[in-house]
Amino acid sequence: MDDQLSVMIVDDEKPMLEWLSILLEQHGYSVTCFSDGRKAVTEGRKNAPDILVVDVKMPGISGLDVLSRLREKSPELIGIVITAFSSVDSAVQAMRKGATDYLIKPFEVDQLLVAIEKALGERKIRRENRELRKKIRSRFSIEGIIGKSKPIIDLLEEVRMVADKDSTVLITGESGTGKELIARAIHSISPRAEKPFLGVNCGSFSHSLLESELFGHLKGSFTGAHRDKEGLLVAAKGGTFFLDEVGELDRELQVKLLRALQERQVLPVGGTKHISFDARIIAATNANLKEMVDGNAFRPDLYYRLNVIPLHVPALRDRSSDIPILLGKFIENYSEAIGEPPRVITEEACEALMNYNWPGNVRELENVVERVCVMTSGSEIILADLPDFIKEPAVKDSGIFADKTSSAESTISTEKATPTLDVIEEAYTLYILEHRAGGQKRLAAKLLGINESTLYRRLEKYAKDRENP
Ligand SMILES: Nc1ncnc2c1ncn2[C@@H]1O[C@H](COP(=O)(O)OP(=O)(O)OP(=O)(O)O)[C@@H](O)[C@H]1O
Ligand SMILES: [Mg+2]
Repeated sequence: MDDQLSVMIVDDEKPMLEWLSILLEQHGYSVTCFSDGRKAVTEGRKNAPDILVVDVKMPGISGLDVLSRLREKSPELIGIVITAFSSVDSAVQAMRKGATDYLIKPFEVDQLLVAIEKALGERKIRRENRELRKKIRSRFSIEGIIGKSKPIIDLLEEVRMVADKDSTVLITGESGTGKELIARAIHSISPRAEKPFLGVNCGSFSHSLLESELFGHLKGSFTGAHRDKEGLLVAAKGGTFFLDEVGELDRELQVKLLRALQERQVLPVGGTKHISFDARIIAATNANLKEMVDGNAFRPDLYYRLNVIPLHVPALRDRSSDIPILLGKFIENYSEAIGEPPRVITEEACEALMNYNWPGNVRELENVVERVCVMTSGSEIILADLPDFIKEPAVKDSGIFADKTSSAESTISTEKATPTLDVIEEAYTLYILEHRAGGQKRLAAKLLGINESTLYRRLEKYAKDRENP
């Protein structure tokens, strides 16, 4: 049987060898015996057993040395050490040298069998964990990032370059472009990969909760603090800490974070003693931090400390050549989840998706794919299956005239004489703001090709005009 587990027994006492080998063979193990430790090492290095049962005290080479020599070659080897004296010392030493368990002579048959079973169980769990980690890693590894466009290839090159450094990275990019995916990718190929990746979204906590999440708190430091809590920066222990939406930090926390990053120490809420932490910092933001610094909304010193290595994730509309492969992947993921063969997308539908400007970027694309897959059927995804806002050809973007639900529409009557440029400008501006940018002024300004302040000025003017027509 191929899956029969092999046990190597090493003991200078022959009767012991015989007794153990009969016993283990009876229980289905394939057994090899050695009374000479050196021979066992030579043989074991050529042909590694699953389990080593070894006596500590032998002439020539000690059982612990046999174990450590064999483990050099096969780190997964299960080593059970037998010692004649109830010596805590040799037992401790044995565990230190990588023994899985130890038995003190004389021992019962069952004790040995139980020790082997237990070790096998633990090894299985270790293997499964490793497999799981590998799977998670490949989801977030560089391969998990889909894209072949020049901007993405360049970005991935930068990711590879920064991964093995410890410098702080600031990832910028619009919402849904994949900033968190990039942060996880950096971690997963960094020397810190086996350590935790922890993070916090600075925009989703109140001031005091965020402070306690980041730095921890002491019991009784505020109502509800029933016990001491370790901050996430400390809990990242040798790993990576992801500060998402860092632009949302208030002034006070900006100061505290800056100090923590400078000193590599945090002060828990209610505490007086600083605690060191070891975490590589990756921050992300979809705000323009530089502009926030200029506008006095973000501390320049913190900005410079975070922006050591800037990485920018390009908007999807600026790399629309990635849309077909992203589509393919998302359709495949969806079909796999519901256990159906993947649907094919027609060229016409694909083109419409490539022409849309994706204010919500990859996340929006992912959602649209799911929505289309759920709401329509057939083996193909055709143009008619797509949501209206994507189907409208780009030229009809001045679709202000067609979109009856647009509040902009009320400003223009298609029946009347040609509207003035002012009226068209207002209608178009409002249309882009509501229907293309989902109300996000920064994005609307970008799509309109104007400054955000110009947009604000225009909006104020429209509001005033409406008040005093
Ligand atoms: N290049 C890519 N390849 C595959 N999936 C991607 C890619 N970029 C983004 N995604 C997917 O799009 C979704 C959004 O990505 P992510 O959460 O990393 O974006 P984000 O920039 O952090 O967004 P936000 O600013 O809203 O927090 C995720 O489901 C992610 O897996
Ligand atoms: Mg994010």
